[in-house]
Amino acid sequence: MLNPRDVTFVPATVSGTVAPADARAPLRDARGRTKRKLRISLTDRCNFRCVYCMPETPQWLPREQILRREELLRLARLFVTELGITDIRLTGGEPLLRADAVEIVDALNTLRPLGLERVAMTSNGVRLTRHAAALRAAGLDDLNVSLDARTPEVFHALTGGEVEPVLDGIRAARDAGLPVKINSVVIRDHNEHEVLPLLDWALSERMTLRFIEFMPLDGRGYWNAERVVGENEILDALRTRHAVSALPQTDDPARYFTVDGDQRFGIISTISKPFCKRCDRVRLSSTGTLYACLFSAGGADLRAPLRAGADDDALIRLVRGHIWNKEAGYAQRPGYVERPITMHVLGG
Ligand code: GTP
Ligand code: 5AD
Ligand code: SF4
Repeated sequence: MLNPRDVTFVPATVSGTVAPADARAPLRDARGRTKRKLRISLTDRCNFRCVYCMPETPQWLPREQILRREELLRLARLFVTELGITDIRLTGGEPLLRADAVEIVDALNTLRPLGLERVAMTSNGVRLTRHAAALRAAGLDDLNVSLDARTPEVFHALTGGEVEPVLDGIRAARDAGLPVKINSVVIRDHNEHEVLPLLDWALSERMTLRFIEFMPLDGRGYWNAERVVGENEILDALRTRHAVSALPQTDDPARYFTVDGDQRFGIISTISKPFCKRCDRVRLSSTGTLYACLFSAGGADLRAPLRAGADDDALIRLVRGHIWNKEAGYAQRPGYVERPITMHVLGG
């Protein structure tokens, strides 16, 4: 069993208390990490109830609190043109429950000449049969889809949903020409026996799959250290049937491995091998709150100043100041902490 308190992390020295004033400088924090990736949650709503994400009885946020499309696009534009963001990932809840998700992708594409290099999405897959072709046509670059089990009963117990529509959605995305990566959160006593069938399926479909260690961000206090199936345990299970070799670590949150020579898979090992020192992400909730870290205790509200008529400079200063003071990350404060926000609001 893995004890997150065994993980060591030496935080970098904080090199100042005030964000740089240079208006066009890349977005940085005081620990020397530059931010290139913005994750935007389009909605907190979801048609699944994954145990690792949702509270048992979620209270959806009132619609007037959710950023309107023009508000979201104004902020996205500022992040790209003034703050050096090159990658935007749309998340949820389930982003495709938002009626204007395709229009948002389309509008974000107008930011490419201004510095945006990638527009991606993370989805539960159910609505892809309906939307994959339109997303591709609107300019989506790639898609990550959650699939935590191949066995219908195991999938249902974890998510409250059915596996077949997700598999159909994955096929629809691929047929539409969208590159797809699969996310599989592994939780003890739920799906650790699905690890081999999932990899075999991904290899047969020639898709990249990433196993994800269960993080303490669920909405029902379900996380504990015993439920975490760590990277080493996942590798031991896979090595009973496959030849697995580590590839050099990159800036990606996943560590990648070759399997049987020519294909590869990844593991996102936030708990056993945190990658906080390389973190290049910031996140905007669907209500317009900026979070510097997945594990942040609080964020900076951008919606109130936006709706009160703040000019671009004021918003940029607010973003720079908040991100400058970004905490070291999970590695420094491991374990379950009560948070005002859970995964379904933050979008991973
Ligand atoms: P790409 O690497 O750009 O494909 O995207 P991604 O892996 O960041 O996106 P995705 O939404 O598929 O997230 C996969 C897993 O990584 C989820 O469990 C996320 O919560 C987790 N994750 C994403 N960003 C971070 C981060 O900054 N810190 C930690 N600890 N986990 C993250
Ligand atoms: N721990 C790890 N990964 C999680 N995800 C959601 N909640 C958790 C959690 N508690 C992942 C899902 C989804 C992505 C956005 O985040 O696999 O694909
Ligand atoms: Fe919905 Fe994704 Fe959360 Fe599952 S992980 S409940 S699919 S938002």
